Parts: sequence; structure tokens; C-alpha cells
Amino acid sequence: MRWFRAPGRANLIGEHTDHTDGLVLPAAIDRALSLEADLGGHRIRLTSAQAPERVDVPADGSSAPEGGFGRFVAAVAAELAEVGRAPVGMTGRLTSDLPQGAGLSSSAALEVVVATALCAAADLQLEPLELAALCRRAEHRAVGVPSGIMDQAASILGRAGHAVLLDCGTLEHRQVPLPEQHALLLLDTGVQRRLETSGYAQRSEELRAGLHVLDGRRPADVDPAELPTLLASLPAIPARRLRHVVSENARVREVAAAFAAEDLPRVGELFAAGHASLRDDYEVSIPELDALVELSGEAGATAARMTGGGFGGAIVVLVPDDRAQSLGESVLAAYRERFPAASPSLHLCHASDGAGER
Ligand code: GLA
Repeated sequence: MRWFRAPGRANLIGEHTDHTDGLVLPAAIDRALSLEADLGGHRIRLTSAQAPERVDVPADGSSAPEGGFGRFVAAVAAELAEVGRAPVGMTGRLTSDLPQGAGLSSSAALEVVVATALCAAADLQLEPLELAALCRRAEHRAVGVPSGIMDQAASILGRAGHAVLLDCGTLEHRQVPLPEQHALLLLDTGVQRRLETSGYAQRSEELRAGLHVLDGRRPADVDPAELPTLLASLPAIPARRLRHVVSENARVREVAAAFAAEDLPRVGELFAAGHASLRDDYEVSIPELDALVELSGEAGATAARMTGGGFGGAIVVLVPDDRAQSLGESVLAAYRERFPAASPSLHLCHASDGAGER
């Protein structure tokens, strides 16, 4: 038996910037998918503690089930076959302490853990970002969502106590130390989301309708001071989408600088500005996410904003360790009063190491 693990991620800032080659600052979290497997054979046979179905697909992913987690497994195997992996299978079981549908990248963690095990099965070594790009292609193949590389890269590149500053265009990246004795508190609205049914693709198309004003530059290379001139000729919707993406790329640089300067009040301001931009300009927040951010601010969080694609899912709260649990509980109590039908949850996390065999 061999054991593999791939964590979920909490993006600290840089939301909806990755699919236009922009900047992101995610952290891998200490909640993960684990896979215990016997490597070998011609089929990939997997069960999961979280899902009823049994997956049984050819080791080269040449046929795939229509629904369920087997789509991702087959898509990863098919992408690996395209880069020449020998079709060696495995028999194993998945377990998880990573909440699904909470915007914490459970599908990326699934792709990464399966890819890591299948590479080990066939003795194939891929560079970390090559593996991330391959898993991103598998996500497209499985569910057709035009997502970026952030989630898979975070699951692979994560390091305990750090976030990774990644330029999704050049793939340059570096580790950014996070403040000591701070938790990443994830507060889940209880509103489930799946990227394939959210407005992810629609937002991305609306953004693309405005990109021509950049004359070939990517949004990450535009100074926000240029925005009033650049946006003047655009219809309202593409203008708002582009304003979000240009300003968000700038916020990624500023948050990384504020962490380096240990200026936590500034991190708090930038998280608040990022959340407002996702709410008002990119329009992917929902009232439940807005309420959690507002309540966390009132309860004295260092910084809080929605994390992930939006339309549901969770917020990420930066808060000192010794206050994290109590702050989370009081925020959720106030949230339940506003949304009595919701079933929110709290996940007290820290930045963790990325995927691998253990
Ligand atoms: C989802 C996608 C990512 C990224 C985020 C938004 O998590 O999978 O690639 O676009 O949304 O930042």
C-alpha cells in the first residue's frame, strides 16, 4: 500500500485573475484528499468514503463515466497518457477531510492526488507546474470549465506557513511567509457551489469582451491609474469585469508587500477592497458571503474576504490563533440569525505543505 495526499487551498487574494494570466496568492491548507492505493494492473479502480460509486476505468483513461468523481479520474489518466505515461493502473480508496463545494478546490485536490499516484505507478516524474497544468487540462476535459491554473498549482506548490505568489502567465513563483500565530479561518456559507453550474464561464466571457482595449497587454501589466481612460469606450459590463481584474492584480502585489512589511492593517484594507470588487464589479459574491465578511470585520478579524470562484462557498479570515475559534463561533451565531435556513460551518486551518507521497 502507498499513501498520497493533496491539499485544498484558500486563495488569499487574486480572484478571477488566473484565467487571464494574472497574479494569485493562494495557500495550501491542512485539509486534504488522501489516497491509499496498490499500484499496478491495467485498470484504475477507486472507491471513496465521500461518494457511493465505484470507479473502474482503463489505466489510459480512454473511457470515462458520465458523472461523478470518475470523470476527473479518467480525465487525469487521459491527460497523462497524452504526455506518454505508461498505462499502469491502481486499486485504492479515497478519504477526505476537505469540505466539498465550499470553494476550497476539492476537485483540484482530487486531480492532483490521482495524478501524483498515477505518476508514481508508472515511475514518471513531471515538474510541479507541468503537473499542475496537466491537472488543469483534466478539469476542462472532465467538466468543461475554463478555469485557471491556480487551484492545482496551490495544491502542488504549497508550503507550511506560506502562501505562494504565482504569476499565472510566466509561471514564476515564490513563497510568501504568512504572519506567525495566525490562522486561516474558513467560514463556509453552506451554500453549495459547483463551478460547472456557476456563472464562471459567463463572467470570463464578459471580461474577454473588454480585453481588446489593452492592445495585447495582459490585465496584470496595466496600471490601475490608466483605467478611467481604458474603460471609457467599453459597455458597462465588460468595463466592470476588467476594472475588477486590473485592480485585483494590483492588490495581489500590494498584499504580498504588506505581508513582507508585517503591515496587517493594510492587509485588512486590501482584503476588504478585494471583496468589494468581487461583489460590485465582478459580481460573483452572494449576500451570505457579504454577511460573513461584514460580521468577521465587526468581530475584529485581521482581514476577511470571499475565497474561490464565488456564487457560494466560503470566506477566508486571517485571525490570531488564540482568537480564531471564538471569533468563528460568534460570527456563525450572528450569521444563523440572519440566514436561519443556512447550515454554515467553520474550518480552522493553517497553510500547509503541498501534495505528495507520505
Ligand atoms: C476557481 C477556479 C480558479 C480561479 C478561481 C477564482 O477556483 O478553479 O482557477 O479562477 O475560481 O479566482
